[in-house]
Amino acid sequence: MSGRPLAGQRVIVSAGPTFEDIDPVRFIGNRSSGKMGFAVAAAAVELGAQVVLVAGPVSLPTPAGVQRIDVRSAAQMHAAVFAALPADVYIGAAAVADFTPRAVAGSKIKKRPGDDGLVLDLVRTRDILAELAADARRPALVVGFAAETDDVARYARGKLAAKRLDLIAANRVGVAGSGFESDDNALTVFDRDGGEHALGPAPKAQLAHELLELIARRPRAA
Ligand code: C5P
Repeated sequence: MSGRPLAGQRVIVSAGPTFEDIDPVRFIGNRSSGKMGFAVAAAAVELGAQVVLVAGPVSLPTPAGVQRIDVRSAAQMHAAVFAALPADVYIGAAAVADFTPRAVAGSKIKKRPGDDGLVLDLVRTRDILAELAADARRPALVVGFAAETDDVARYARGKLAAKRLDLIAANRVGVAGSGFESDDNALTVFDRDGGEHALGPAPKAQLAHELLELIARRPRAA
């Protein structure tokens, strides 16, 4: 394969966590560092793609050659990803919040004497990946990530089918040094044809390169 198998292709990558505001000073977030998604964006540029990186709140430098769009919430990420269409490939590496407060309080929520708890009213966010895969402007390849702790193959394959993806990359948790904030990771990539590819354990940059090589080799629907 040539060194630039993604030349001429437009790739959208989402990365990082989302923060869902509760009031002007508080939010619900998660521990995603964005490292894997940023490495994926950098690897796509190395393989010749034109890359848009939709990044949640992380403190990482923008990879060379990448067009970066910073967002905060799941709703903003949804809007930014759809606004970046059309694309040949979408890679959803972000840890998008599944739930968000029904309403953001306009001023800081106070604790009052006698309060022994606080109930937050949360609603489901929109599933960016599933909506994109079902959209009329669907990129030819739609790739998801799955963070599973047990029964990885079953859950990952379930998501691959339910969200109508081409590929899903599942973190192999329990492998030394892999995971959210680590520089190394290990992935099992499942494809819609029943194939399975074990990548790593390796530094996230190398792993991202191997994942992008797999993506570049996938046949595309016309
Ligand atoms: O269903 P689950 O959240 O485990 O699926 C993970 C995959 O779905 C990731 O690729 C993530 O970016 C994507 N996702 C999304 N929008 C959501 C939730 C998850 O795009 N609201």
